[in-house]
Amino acid sequence: MLVLLAGIFVVHIATMVMLFVSTISNVWMAGKISEHLTNSSGLWLQCEEGKICTYLTFGEDDLSALKAVQAFMILAIIFSFISLVMFVVQLFTMEKGKRFYITGVIMLVCWLFILIAASIYTARFPQQFKSSQDHHGYSFILAWICFCFSFIVGVLYLVLRKK
Ligand SMILES: *[C@@H]1O[C@H](CO)[C@@H](O)[C@H](O)[C@H]1NC(C)=O
Repeated sequence: MLVLLAGIFVVHIATMVMLFVSTISNVWMAGKISEHLTNSSGLWLQCEEGKICTYLTFGEDDLSALKAVQAFMILAIIFSFISLVMFVVQLFTMEKGKRFYITGVIMLVCWLFILIAASIYTARFPQQFKSSQDHHGYSFILAWICFCFSFIVGVLYLVLRKK
C-alpha cells in the first residue's frame, strides 16, 4: 500500500510538471514553413524554429476562447499543486484508515479544468491550421495525457486508505 501511495505521489508530480510544460511551451500545433523551417503555435505565441516568436493572429472571438484555455490551464496547475500540498498535509495529520477525500476532490477539480481547456482548444483551434504539414504538437498531447493521469490520480486518492 505504501508503494502504491508513493507511486501515485510520483505520477501526481509528473502530471503537474507536464501541465506546466504543456501550458508554457507553444507547441500545441506544429508545422513547417518550408522544408527546413519548422513552426509551431501554442496558447501564447506562434514561433518559427522555436526561437523567433510573435503574437498569435486569430480573430477576436478566437482570442477570447484562447484566453479561456489559458485561464483553465493555469487553474489546473494551481489545483494540482494545492492537491499535492493537501496530500502531504493529510499524510501527516490524518488518522489511519481514513481516505484522502480532500486531496482526491481537489485533484478531480483539476481534472475538470483540464477537460474544459483541452476541449475548447480541440474544438476550435486545430482546424485553423490548414497547411498540409500542420499537425498536433506535443503540448496538445501532454494536455490530454494530464487529463487521463489527473483523473486516475484523483480517483485513487478517493479510494485509498491511509495505512
Ligand atoms: C506554419 O506556417 C505556415 C506558412 O506560413 C502556415 O500555413 C501554418 O499554419 C503554420 N503552422 C503553425 C502550426 O503555426
